[in-house]
Amino acid sequence: MPVINVHDKKFSPFLSEQEIQQQIKKIAAAINEDYAGMRPMFIAILNGSFMFAADLFKYLTIDAEICFIKLASYKGTTSSGQMFTAIGLDVDLIGKDVIIIEDIVDTGRTLNEFLPKLMHQQPASLKIAALLHKPDAVKFPIRVDYLGFSIPNKFVVGYGLDYDGLGRNLREIYQLV
Ligand code: IMP
Ligand code: MG
Repeated sequence: MPVINVHDKKFSPFLSEQEIQQQIKKIAAAINEDYAGMRPMFIAILNGSFMFAADLFKYLTIDAEICFIKLASYKGTTSSGQMFTAIGLDVDLIGKDVIIIEDIVDTGRTLNEFLPKLMHQQPASLKIAALLHKPDAVKFPIRVDYLGFSIPNKFVVGYGLDYDGLGRNLREIYQLV
């Protein structure tokens, strides 16, 4: 696979379609086992997680529900300086076993803001599935329960992840050169 251009920047191949699918199958197998006999509610965070969510969901053999939400940021006065409101979270989470689906945990800021809000809804349990994690970028430590890849602190695109709106349709993940 060659180096590609997205907008003004060059990206080189990093994770192949096959590597990505292999890891997602492993995550699905772990969830199938951990949640056997249960009926978890997946909450996928748009936009970045749409491909990961779709592929992960197809590999599940247990009963499961899914909903898609969007986190809209607005200026707030928390320590992190950002606050989010969850658009589309119209399901009742009381007593549910919830699994968040994220494309990437970078600084951890997004989930650090969002998880306490979800806990207010009193789910029976709450876990995180993330395709990518950048340990060196973490500012707000988040426990990722199901992880695809731990990656270096370099910007990536593809498989749902964008650079300024483009690159989401790539089947592979590319890293900034
Ligand atoms: P965090 O709040 O810093 O953990 O980052 C959350 C969001 O930033 C992710 O869900 C992505 O949408 C976006 N993001 C972080 N790193 C990257 C990257 O390398 N490429 C594309 N999007 C990213
Ligand atoms: Mg995201």
